[in-house]
Amino acid sequence: MALACIFLFSNLTLEKEEQVVAGDMPVAGVLKKLGDQPAPHLPRTDVKNVSVENGREIVLYGRAKSPHGGKSERVSKHFVCTSCHNIERDEPDLSKDDPLARLKYVNEKGLPFLQGSALYGIVDRRSFYNGDYKKKYGDLVEPARYNLREAIQLCATECSQGRLLEDWELESVLSYLWTIGLKMGDLNLTDADLNKINKALEGGGKKDGAVQLIKSKYRQGFPATFIDPPADRKKGFSTKADMETGKLIYELSCLHCHEGKRYSFFNLDKSSLSFKFLNKHLRGYGRYSIYQVVRYGTPPVPWKKAYMPHYTKEKMSKQMLEDLRFYIEQKAK
Ligand code: HEC
Ligand code: HEC
Repeated sequence: MALACIFLFSNLTLEKEEQVVAGDMPVAGVLKKLGDQPAPHLPRTDVKNVSVENGREIVLYGRAKSPHGGKSERVSKHFVCTSCHNIERDEPDLSKDDPLARLKYVNEKGLPFLQGSALYGIVDRRSFYNGDYKKKYGDLVEPARYNLREAIQLCATECSQGRLLEDWELESVLSYLWTIGLKMGDLNLTDADLNKINKALEGGGKKDGAVQLIKSKYRQGFPATFIDPPADRKKGFSTKADMETGKLIYELSCLHCHEGKRYSFFNLDKSSLSFKFLNKHLRGYGRYSIYQVVRYGTPPVPWKKAYMPHYTKEKMSKQMLEDLRFYIEQKAK
């Protein structure tokens, strides 16, 4: 535990002799060196039983070794954080929202395509549940908007339909999240950018400018726009569609949760039975229409039943939903 903390904090500061930016340096460490305000969510390591390892276990398995002995109670009966969030980088360009580029990127990396944003790099962000999430969670968003601790608690209780994390669990999760912060190499910096940053670090250039330059390379918060399905579900949004995109969405997203009833009681697989079922319902307004579940999710029944989070426009474009439809229609033939 003590070791983990030393590791964590030495990681966040740049050593004297390392004045030149390297790809594996944490972005937060470089920003600190340039005089930027540190994030308000550094973990409190004075809390008993706090460790990176406990945090990792909570994120991946929903529970860790409890200070009261044995394993702690699971955070959620239905989910773990990785049901809906990747812990690896899952955007090719962290300064943009391009769901199609993200789909191709996760496919290359062997990752699932999920409704939640990556937890990788979340400690580098400053605002949470942005945009239309206010519509879904109402006033619950207020305390979480600029507070990562509250954002995690909101997700543990509302998105995961579980319980609040205890202090040691929350601080452990934060400790773990700090080990998966952005690295300078994630930022797609040009040689000219690197020169500017190195100059500023050496004291020869404007520090503020370098801070702004670095921050322009990744989002400080992810926008979220809720959109409706097409008014006419028989017609859909467009007549052109891409089979390969539809296939990737089905396999990397839908099957991540539905294959073998992994996180849901509703089973989907690659059999023609699944495709025929989805095809039969997609033009209607019932709970089995892909238009319905992709844009509105399924309603949560707290504690009782798992629910499906919807996809915002930033997580799946209108055209991508048409591609999924086309794929399902073709496979149902
Ligand atoms: C059932 C799906 C689901 C589960 C399980 C889940 N989340 Fe989330 N979470 C979401 C969705 C959807 C959002 C809102 C969209 C986003 O991430 O940008 C979100 C948002 C967040 C945010 C704010 C992100 C942002 O940039 O706005 C944090 C932090 C977060 N979750 C942490 C966690 C942690 C930690 C766990 C595990 C204890 C967890 N979540 C479990 C679906 C889930
Ligand atoms: C993060 C996990 C997750 C992902 C990804 C996901 N689902 Fe779901 N889905 C669920 C859960 C949980 C339910 C709630 C139903 C249950 O478990 O009983 C659900 C419900 C549904 C239902 C309604 C079933 C019912 O009994 O009412 C359909 C249809 C569906 N999903 C289709 C899809 C499709 C198509 C995709 C891909 C675009 C997809 N799901 C992606 C978790 C997920």
